[in-house]
Amino acid sequence: MKFKFKIILCIACLVLLAQLIRPEELSTAKAQTAKTLTGVPKEVANVFETSCFDCHSAQTNLRWFDKITPANFLVASHIRDGRKALDFSQWDSLATPQRNAMLYFALNGILSGEMPLSSYTALHPSAKLKEKDIALLKNYFLNNLVSKPGDAVSRVGQPKVKEVKNSPNGVAYLPGYRNWKAISSTDRFDNGTIRIIFGNPIAVKAIHDGKTKPWPDGTVFAKTAWKQEKGKDGNVYAGQFVQVEFMIKDATRYAGTKGWGWARWKGENLLPYGKTVKFDSECISCHRPERNNDYVFTTPLDIKDFKK
Ligand code: HEC
Ligand code: HEC
Repeated sequence: MKFKFKIILCIACLVLLAQLIRPEELSTAKAQTAKTLTGVPKEVANVFETSCFDCHSAQTNLRWFDKITPANFLVASHIRDGRKALDFSQWDSLATPQRNAMLYFALNGILSGEMPLSSYTALHPSAKLKEKDIALLKNYFLNNLVSKPGDAVSRVGQPKVKEVKNSPNGVAYLPGYRNWKAISSTDRFDNGTIRIIFGNPIAVKAIHDGKTKPWPDGTVFAKTAWKQEKGKDGNVYAGQFVQVEFMIKDATRYAGTKGWGWARWKGENLLPYGKTVKFDSECISCHRPERNNDYVFTTPLDIKDFKK
């Protein structure tokens, strides 16, 4: 009996001693915070704040058992890796397209079933997402994210060119794309550009109907890029126009180029890109990894999930 007691005492001491060894993250939380996702409806913001902020922002709300060594090392590594992948702390300094990109990215994490981490929700049941939370998010995304371009983009206006030359492969410029819906924004926060992908009404209908493999004839995507500019207020805005690229679906007409008409116009003067008729083989070879997705990279959320 006595011996057993000693062992227990020993273990207890070790556990206590171990508490002196602590990971850095937990004691020195970063000061930078976004307390809430401003500009997003409260109930939508709430879902992210409850289920994601612990690992994806500077606002970690740790329980007592998260702070015990060795559990705290696991928690700290989650927070470190989580913030690397997605950090809501910068929210306040982001322009609308970037905020949308972030939410879009986040929702994909949820719909893929990977997030929030199940090892975490097991111990933190309140972070678990309910059916109604997911329905709420989807609804918000369909009605808002798949939406008119953000204010950061409309600020810059159209490039001012009277006549735009055709692309060397004969594809003509389509001026109206900025009134289409923005179906994705692929800002990566690193290469200094804001990129937005617009879809014409046929593309948007295909998304809603879940009929994107293949995309129907008449589908058009426009991928635009603007230089990122920091405003006096610290926010990031879309600055100088870099280029617009189109993919126009017509399985018959463009049979020789995988069913798509490819074209790119560069700069404020919208100069057609490419020296020869076959310049588009460059586009196709880079889009080839997506050949099972009809050569389209952009997955407007988890499309199958939106099928009604
Ligand atoms: C327990 C901590 C934890 C919670 C809670 C959590 N995440 Fe994560 N998340 C992580 C970690 C860790 C990674 C990095 C995973 C990796 O690198 O493989 C990650 C990665 C991600 C990624 C990037 C996925 C990718 O493919 O790289 C997204 C998106 C994401 N999380 C969204 C969310 C959303 C949305 C929520 C809330 C519903 C959430 N996470 C809740 C820890 C967490
Ligand atoms: C270096 C590789 C690369 C080349 C070359 C390339 N693209 Fe893309 N393209 C991408 C990637 C990656 C995406 C996905 C969005 C993103 O990450 O910006 C994309 C997206 C697009 C989109 C939006 C639809 C979609 O697939 O998601 C259009 C339109 C587009 N590209 C047109 C073109 C045209 C036209 C050319 C040739 C003039 C071209 N691309 C050349 C890599 C490339």
